[in-house]
Amino acid sequence: MMKKIVTYAAAFALTLGLGLSANAMAGDKGPAEMTLQATVDAAAKAKPAMFPHAKHQEKLACGECHHTKGADGKQVAYTEGMKIEKCETCHNKAAGMPKAVATFKDAAHTNCKGCHKEKKVSTKCDTCHK
Ligand code: HEC
Ligand code: HEC
Ligand code: HEC
Ligand code: HEC
Repeated sequence: MMKKIVTYAAAFALTLGLGLSANAMAGDKGPAEMTLQATVDAAAKAKPAMFPHAKHQEKLACGECHHTKGADGKQVAYTEGMKIEKCETCHNKAAGMPKAVATFKDAAHTNCKGCHKEKKVSTKCDTCHK
């Protein structure tokens, strides 16, 4: 009996340990539904955007939206299991990114609206900003 409890405890601790580094694991797909809101370079009037993450994951590769950067500051393509950071971590005015992707808003509009336009999905403001 005692041995069984110890085994369960060990399994539980292992689960917790894995949970802490979940973002670095291939299995973490992030939230299914998100409300995105710029915080760093946010406009005076907040304009949250609705984002059905899971719905996009059904049809699109993670690398359509996620990437990271190398030590030289250049973009590095998505690889499975890599650390996924918030867009704003890199796309903020202080980071000095190119104008088209200088802020979260710019990066999001380039990425989200760019693909919607290409795939003939609505790019009307209220498609995302409800
Ligand atoms: C396909 C989705 C999408 C569409 C369409 C879209 N946006 Fe956005 N927009 C976003 C996302 C994502 C962000 C970044 C998160 C946020 O702050 O809302 C954003 C950010 C913004 C921000 C900055 C918000 C802030 O608080 O700093 C403004 C302003 C904005 N959008 C205006 C517009 C206007 C005006 C239109 C229509 C001409 C539009 N957007 C169409 C997705 C969209
Ligand atoms: C259509 C674009 C798109 C696709 C495809 C996509 N994601 Fe995301 N994902 C996003 C956006 C946008 C966010 C929110 C980023 C932010 O808050 O700055 C996000 C957030 C996340 C987060 C949470 C990051 C954090 O720390 O808040 C994880 C984890 C994640 N995605 C994993 C995945 C994985 C794994 C896939 C592929 C199975 C995937 N995503 C596909 C756009 C996408
Ligand atoms: C770890 C840093 C980092 C994060 C996090 C990041 N980016 Fe980027 N992104 C870059 C770099 C670096 C470039 C290249 C900029 C240049 O051309 O000099 C780039 C370029 C882009 C571009 C233009 C080139 C292209 O691939 O179309 C878009 C759009 C973009 N990012 C959107 C996003 C979105 C949306 C998110 C969040 C889901 C995000 N980025 C998260 C670093 C990052
Ligand atoms: C690489 C392509 C691609 C990117 C990038 C992308 N989308 Fe989409 N999005 C789609 C497609 C395709 C659909 C239609 C999905 C369907 O109906 O099955 C869609 C649908 C949506 C819808 C639902 C519209 C409706 O009423 O049916 C919202 C909201 C949305 N996207 C927001 C966003 C936001 C916000 C971003 C950026 C953070 C984003 N999308 C990035 C391809 C993309």
